[in-house]
Amino acid sequence: MFFKKAIYLDNTATTRTRKEVASVINRYFSGIYGNPSSAHGSGLIARGSVEMARERIAKVLNCSSNELIFTGSGSEGNNTAIKGVLKAAGKYRHIITSRIEHSSILNTCKSLENEGVNVTYIGVDGQGRYDLNQLQHEIREDTALVSLSYVNNEIGTVQDMDRTCLIVKSKGVILHIDAVQALPYFDIDMTRLKADLVTFSGHKLYAPKGIGILYIREGTPIEAIISGGEQEFGLRSGTENVAYIVGLSKAIALNQIEKRKYVSSLVSRRDKLIEGVLNKVNGSILTGDPSNRAPNNASFCFKGLSGKMLVRQLSWYGIEVSSGSACSSPKNEPSHVLSACKISDDYINGSLRVTLGRYNTQKDINKFLKVLPELVCRMREQELSYNNNPVFISQEELKRKLNSGEAVQVLDVRPFNYPKFRIPGSICMPIWKLKSNLNRLNPKIETIVVCHQGDVVAPEAHQILSKKGFSNVKVLKGGLAGYIELDRVPYLIKRFG
Ligand SMILES: Cc1ncc(COP(=O)(O)O)c(C=O)c1O
Repeated sequence: MFFKKAIYLDNTATTRTRKEVASVINRYFSGIYGNPSSAHGSGLIARGSVEMARERIAKVLNCSSNELIFTGSGSEGNNTAIKGVLKAAGKYRHIITSRIEHSSILNTCKSLENEGVNVTYIGVDGQGRYDLNQLQHEIREDTALVSLSYVNNEIGTVQDMDRTCLIVKSKGVILHIDAVQALPYFDIDMTRLKADLVTFSGHKLYAPKGIGILYIREGTPIEAIISGGEQEFGLRSGTENVAYIVGLSKAIALNQIEKRKYVSSLVSRRDKLIEGVLNKVNGSILTGDPSNRAPNNASFCFKGLSGKMLVRQLSWYGIEVSSGSACSSPKNEPSHVLSACKISDDYINGSLRVTLGRYNTQKDINKFLKVLPELVCRMREQELSYNNNPVFISQEELKRKLNSGEAVQVLDVRPFNYPKFRIPGSICMPIWKLKSNLNRLNPKIETIVVCHQGDVVAPEAHQILSKKGFSNVKVLKGGLAGYIELDRVPYLIKRFG
């Protein structure tokens, strides 16, 4: 069951674009739509809008406007900073980052490792604070860049930026800071924050998704990673997203005006939420730094539970949160951040991240605090935790079974499915209808459970069926998305050659 108006407590993932920002943006879709690189009037107006937005943001960050380039996202900012600096670094082929970074840093570093770059991943303590002694010792002659973040997106730990900058800059190494989760809450003054490059993203502070900023201190050696029309001082080719750039400047300006009040109201609600959860739910721990944490972040681990399953169950109650566990893979691997913090085995898969925003009321928090303890109790009673890993079947194997007419029943448990995207002959029922509709299935026939892709509902269905005496249950590995792609390959080859 999906509620029309969910209680959204996932504001670190993204925020709703605020009305004032949306109305500014709208003007640029139909009225002021020129290309800023055009020489005519419409182009000049668009160019003026972009440059005014840049000036406005530069004022907030206390830097020069030509130290800011607009990007398409925080991820792009991180990629540009890391790859761009490395490209300009010549023989300096060593990077330092940490084990708890956002995937846009970690995967960028991994891809550079494949190209022969040396990467050192510094560790953290149990609360996710960087090991700054290790950082100091790992800086080498050939270190081209240190790339770390201000605030961790998963557990909300705020790092000691003054010490981090001091250590790196005293050794003369270029420092990149991912401040995507910091700008909404902390004053970022580029005369005080001694980093050389800083990444920001719009959708964490009520601007739309798909717009970001990379601050590049004047004189920092960096090369472009996108070639083309040389926009953004030659560092980010591509026609500027004028509407979103102007919208972002509006969001940042509003955030700056409201920041103090916003932060203090978040902190008081966050602390009540944390206290409520720790008091009401047995076997719960707070993750991250209890005192230096993002004002909106309340992240926990619950003993013996699957965080992903908890997220799904809460969603059925109309409450939207997220789990720190990066378990989009069927293996349900625990989060790299929680692993680095050495959260114990019986807690590590039960992570839940609740992140508040400007539109959350105390009523939302009360509802969450009412639903969560009951749900955790029920899940523990029903042992819905992820104890047994299901048996998987590959897409090729299922295809072979179906084509050869073997007796299998395919059970599609996706919450929504469309006739076009179903396996022909499959029995479709959303996961929450499964228990009351078991009579539609034959427990003696091999049952293949399918969901969309790497989803937890299939393993959950596997568990329900296994408990009800279905002896031969398998889960389609990779889910239906991959299965349909497999089906389409011959068609696509025929059509597009
Ligand atoms: C710390 C951090 N860095 C980078 C990003 C990527 O930003 P974007 O979603 O704009 O690509 C995120 C997004 O969640 C983040 O939390």
